[in-house]
Amino acid sequence: MKNSYIIIAALAVAACAPKAPLGLKDVLGDKFLVGTALNEQQIRHQDPKADSIVALHFNAIVPENCMKHAELHPKEDEYNFELADKFVEYGEAAGLTMTGHCLVWHSQTGRWMFFDDKGELASPELLKQRMKDHITTVMTRYKGKLKGWDVVNEAIMEDGSYRKSLYYQILGEEFIPWAFQCAHEADPDAELYYNDYGMNLEGRRNGVVRLIRQLKERGLRIDAVGMQGHMGMDYPTVDEFRASMDAFIAEGVDVMITEWDMSANPTETQSADVGETQRLRMSMWTVAPEEREAIRQELLARLCPYSDGLPEDVSAEWNARMRAFTDLFIEYADHITRVTAWGITDATSWKNGFVVPGGTDYPLLFDREYNAKPFVNQLIEDYK
Ligand code: XIL
Repeated sequence: MKNSYIIIAALAVAACAPKAPLGLKDVLGDKFLVGTALNEQQIRHQDPKADSIVALHFNAIVPENCMKHAELHPKEDEYNFELADKFVEYGEAAGLTMTGHCLVWHSQTGRWMFFDDKGELASPELLKQRMKDHITTVMTRYKGKLKGWDVVNEAIMEDGSYRKSLYYQILGEEFIPWAFQCAHEADPDAELYYNDYGMNLEGRRNGVVRLIRQLKERGLRIDAVGMQGHMGMDYPTVDEFRASMDAFIAEGVDVMITEWDMSANPTETQSADVGETQRLRMSMWTVAPEEREAIRQELLARLCPYSDGLPEDVSAEWNARMRAFTDLFIEYADHITRVTAWGITDATSWKNGFVVPGGTDYPLLFDREYNAKPFVNQLIEDYK
């Protein structure tokens, strides 16, 4: 008798206890992985509120910078795995799915890769050997811990041609299949991805489709295409984005949204026309330092006008656009394996200073006070 009182009392307490809040991963996790990028401070657990957001909302992480070539491999005979190891410890301790970013990219890559000891452009053989060494060393270290890797990042231009990076200048288009081959040999169980931005553009879409076919024709592994998803208020359209997803899926690969953020600022500079703003932007770096500040202020006023807070109407439009893209991702859940935001809160987004140094932007899922944006709360409400 006494026991049943205890059970009833316990049930009553449980029923009245406040329910644990639900996060994005709880409501969308059956459709795809829900991820975020971590910066150094977050990896080192120096941002406890960010830690709580990760724990509640995300089940996947990617390093924002610390696994890039120049970070891991500053000199030919010197690797620095300190922060990358911490990233992996973070993910393992929290049971998060981890992705590596990135093995081959024209940016944030040690210059030494491309030059021999006489300072001449490296020979094709030397660059191939260095690529193999880098890819093998890095992937072997994290074998079995990361689900997959962005093997090649941003190699195709808007018109579908190859970016004329130093990799391309030395090896031609062969550098891409070579990277995928080395990656597969280093860790046959790892998923391998091609990752790029502006994937909605028809030229790049077609270029990436050609690349997937080329890799598959050679029998090389490619599991998914990463569509970075750096967006703005007027680009891309949902339909263009959908068309690119359709095109990639038709080639037999999955799609991942790998670096999602949406600038809330005006997007004058996206115009193909090199207009006044663009000229001003360029001139910032060529004028004398004393003239620079005036130009920076003018650019801030045009391109980052919301330094004191986002106006209500812009915020409403931003939230509606983020929801429209989320709806698209949910519709394609059978083919989308991961949706990853490029950071946690607006305060630390790379977008703040991307267009104009010292700018303010509002591109992420959480605001500067660590609050979820309205569309995030609405999603949790709609899918709980
Ligand atoms: C960005 C980081 O967010 C910044 O912190 C860094 O200064 C530059 O790189 N495409 C990519 C990412 O693949 O690695 C870039 O990340 C953003 C664009």
